[in-house]
Amino acid sequence: MTPPTALDAAALDTVDSGRIAAHLDRFARLTEAGEGCTRLAYTPLEREAHAVFAAHMSGLGLLVHTDPAGNTIAELPGEDAALGALGTGSHLDTVPHGGGLDGIAGVAAAMEIAEVVTRRASARRRTWRFVAFAAEEGARFGQACNGSRMVAGLTVRADLDRLADCDGRTMAEAMSAVGLTPDRIDEARWEPEDWHAFVELHIEQGEVLQSRDADIGVVDLISGSTRLRVAVHGRATHSGGTPMHLRHDALVVAAECVTLGDRLARDARHHGTRVTVGRLEVEPGSITTIPGAVDFSVDVRDVDTVRQRDVARRLAAEFDRIARSHGTSVRVDVLADTSPVLLSAALAGRVRDSCAALGLSYRVLPSGASHDAQQVNRITPAALVFVPSRDGVSHAPQEYTTPAQIAAGTRVVLQTLLRLDADA
Ligand code: GLV
Ligand code: MN
Ligand code: MN
Repeated sequence: MTPPTALDAAALDTVDSGRIAAHLDRFARLTEAGEGCTRLAYTPLEREAHAVFAAHMSGLGLLVHTDPAGNTIAELPGEDAALGALGTGSHLDTVPHGGGLDGIAGVAAAMEIAEVVTRRASARRRTWRFVAFAAEEGARFGQACNGSRMVAGLTVRADLDRLADCDGRTMAEAMSAVGLTPDRIDEARWEPEDWHAFVELHIEQGEVLQSRDADIGVVDLISGSTRLRVAVHGRATHSGGTPMHLRHDALVVAAECVTLGDRLARDARHHGTRVTVGRLEVEPGSITTIPGAVDFSVDVRDVDTVRQRDVARRLAAEFDRIARSHGTSVRVDVLADTSPVLLSAALAGRVRDSCAALGLSYRVLPSGASHDAQQVNRITPAALVFVPSRDGVSHAPQEYTTPAQIAAGTRVVLQTLLRLDADA
């Protein structure tokens, strides 16, 4: 293990929480109206955020391009083009009415690292790449980590016609509408030979670090998720004129399905499974009409790949049974399916070494949320560095981590990259 040079150690001290906070503020202003931050995948606002990232990196003299999938990549060439590159970054899209840090903290960290490294003009052997991934949130199209899945070759052209948002707009249409080129996403793929390692900084989105008073989380395992779209068809008719024994109420069916999912995930044998119904639409949505149709989402998350799929299958079978018992029918479609991923243990060890060298306390923990590092790990060893989330809140306007905490995580990423740069 090579210690950083004196020059590099000084660079670590120049990581500036004020500059990081300024980047976060700038991104927070790029939002739809309403509470919190709304900057959905493959929208003009997401593209604007990518343009802010690109302008900052171009201003530092980096080579910047946006690939056909919408990922923006800024490159700082190293002395030896034959050596695999190092990367860091995260995503700039948000969920509806989310916070300003999920993904964005990791991009702001990348912007700060690029600034610190270019200001000190210290030599690097390897090429360093700073990445703002596109469309990480599954909130719009069901599938998460779209930009990083495309670089890993996990999402292919045909998927872009299958994945659609609530308005029926396909991902391919949404990409084209913001000037991207879905027909060329193959060109976005990364080659393993071209890479040495990738380190993503992200907020924890849970309470472990805060409750253990730890500065940093080093992630060993990222949960997978299986997402279902469930459509229940009953019979819409008069709420006063229809006696209880003649009803085929789609919402009553959906309510039983929702509570079944919750019960199943709380079962002691399912420790680690999480089941969520986060979206539910009732038709015709009238006080005086029995619900004739209900459409809802189910998000099954687990760190155990077999259990994740078993739970999704079991729910689909039980939903069918419940629907029949009410004289209704149900259709279940798999919207997205991502496996849990074990990150590189060796690279996590390097992150732990960096924490120790910087005098920062850390915990090793799994991630309940999906992350771009999960997909990148299929191309090159990837590490995921967490900074604490206040009260564990995320995907909500109250999401908060202090700029000083993000700066500490940024130093860990920079220290790790500097050491990786010296690898043989
Ligand atoms: C990404 O934010 C996820 O939903 O896991
Ligand atoms: Mn995220
Ligand atoms: Mn998120």
